[in-house]
Amino acid sequence: MKDLRQKYGDWALITGASAGIGYAFAGYLAKKGMNLILVARRRERLFSLSADLENKYNIQAVPVVLDLTADNFLDELKPVTENREIGLLINNAGYGSAGRFAEGDLDRYTDMIRLNCLAPVRLTHYIVQGMIQRRKGAVIFLGSVTGHYGSPFFSTYSASKAFNIQFGQSLWYELNKFNIDVLVVSPGSTETEFHDLAGFSRALIVLSPEKVVRKTMRVLGRRIEIIIGPENKLLVFFSRLFPGKLILRIKGFAVKYMIRNK
Ligand SMILES: NC(=O)c1ccc[n+]([C@@H]2O[C@H](COP(=O)([O-])OP(=O)(O)OC[C@H]3O[C@@H](n4cnc5c(N)ncnc54)[C@H](OP(=O)(O)O)[C@@H]3O)[C@@H](O)[C@H]2O)c1
Repeated sequence: MKDLRQKYGDWALITGASAGIGYAFAGYLAKKGMNLILVARRRERLFSLSADLENKYNIQAVPVVLDLTADNFLDELKPVTENREIGLLINNAGYGSAGRFAEGDLDRYTDMIRLNCLAPVRLTHYIVQGMIQRRKGAVIFLGSVTGHYGSPFFSTYSASKAFNIQFGQSLWYELNKFNIDVLVVSPGSTETEFHDLAGFSRALIVLSPEKVVRKTMRVLGRRIEIIIGPENKLLVFFSRLFPGKLILRIKGFAVKYMIRNK
């Protein structure tokens, strides 16, 4: 892979860097020599991660404690990003909430959509302006295997991931002519804090966040989307092949089982 800084720019901005897949992205990119802007809400984790990566890899890491569901989050982010060449944006922060839709908390669904969908739209619109001027850059969106077909008892989340998949695919085309790479990543069940927060158990086969990141970075600039894990590729393949009613019944059964066994 061509040197990431040379190809895209000196800085990467990662949302949701305090845990899970975002944390793994931070480690990977620091090792590759990129400077980092790390965004999440948990201050201590962000500051200690930034200090660790700076010491270990001789890069600059700027922790930004921010709630991406806040209306004014861009105002708070702008002073940090204005004089830095953000070459790689990773729209990673997100969460899910499992359960019967009509019985769930509407505020939680609304907040999830603000984080999973609205924040990537607002952040990407802001960050790509500089990339377009420089004629280089890359944007990564976190989709999910579950975003490839509706998912009973995980309805708002799977819809929010479908949003990221289609938004990313569309931007791949629009931004391509400015030499900006766009990639949608769809992992399956990954060993992070995600499941405990979402309220259901992990799948039988679980990916490591480091593997998700390695596979993602390997295809950045070459693909529009990557579904990670052969079993997950099969799931998506079958969901396109079989009748919708059957897929929804199987998914409904599986998610219900995972909620019961959390
Ligand atoms: N794990 C899986 O099985 C899986 C599968 C497919 C797709 N994904 C996607 O992968 C992405 C990362 O998930 P993960 O598995 O790494 O989950 P995770 O371990 O729960 O990490 C989520 C990250 O998002 C941050 N975050 C949450 N709410 C935020 C807010 N309001 N403002 C700013 N940051 C916020 C969290 O930090 P703070 O709490 O410190 O704010 C944390 O750093 C998500 O988009 C998820 O949908 C995950």
